[in-house]
Amino acid sequence: MAEPQTNAKTNEPAKALSRGEIPRGLLVLFAILPLFALVYLMLGGGLFAPEIKPVARTFQGTTGVAGGGVADEPQRAEQVKAIMAVVPAEAHDDQPATPPGQADITAAATQYNALCAVCHGAKGEGDGAAGAALNPKPMNFHARAYQEQPKGVARWAIKNGLSGTARRSGMPAFALPDPQIWALVEYTYRLGK
Ligand code: HEC
Repeated sequence: MAEPQTNAKTNEPAKALSRGEIPRGLLVLFAILPLFALVYLMLGGGLFAPEIKPVARTFQGTTGVAGGGVADEPQRAEQVKAIMAVVPAEAHDDQPATPPGQADITAAATQYNALCAVCHGAKGEGDGAAGAALNPKPMNFHARAYQEQPKGVARWAIKNGLSGTARRSGMPAFALPDPQIWALVEYTYRLGK
């Protein structure tokens, strides 16, 4: 038993034979790769832990993230912060004289599709065709930062636009009656929920 073992380690023919075999390092790699894949699926893919599935949805490139918000939330948070900085502070907490009712919001949806979807996208994800080349990008109303900002900021931005502010961005002003603007504001928040 002991003799062939020694031979295998020292003999030329034995070494030559082993050259035809799959190198051991490669075998180890083949064994380890599926393990990596499994760990990836467990941690990122939510294969065995459904509660972390939202992470997998981010990997697939959709906007859903655990706890709301969007994949590029940090950039969106920065954007919202910058918009809030150019909107006069006293406008942040503005409220509508009368909260928009369901009929107003239904009308706002039609208006949104006609005036806003081209830049902000039909679902409000900031992905409309006319917004693709804009920098900064049209707001994604699904961003947690957007949902959490005071509605007066959105109302001021729609009424006055942001192109004339220090941001010099692509958001135009809309000369609409106040109740219609508030209904549009409400619609964007609902779109993004
Ligand atoms: C020409 C493209 C374009 C159109 C059309 C447009 N937007 Fe925008 N919008 C933008 C861009 C770009 C920004 C981001 C501006 C920035 O970051 O300074 C923006 C920002 C906003 C914001 C500010 C987000 C915040 O934090 O308050 C709101 C609200 C908004 N848009 C609503 C609307 C509504 C409602 C309409 C339709 C009545 C509309 N937009 C039409 C391009 C557009």
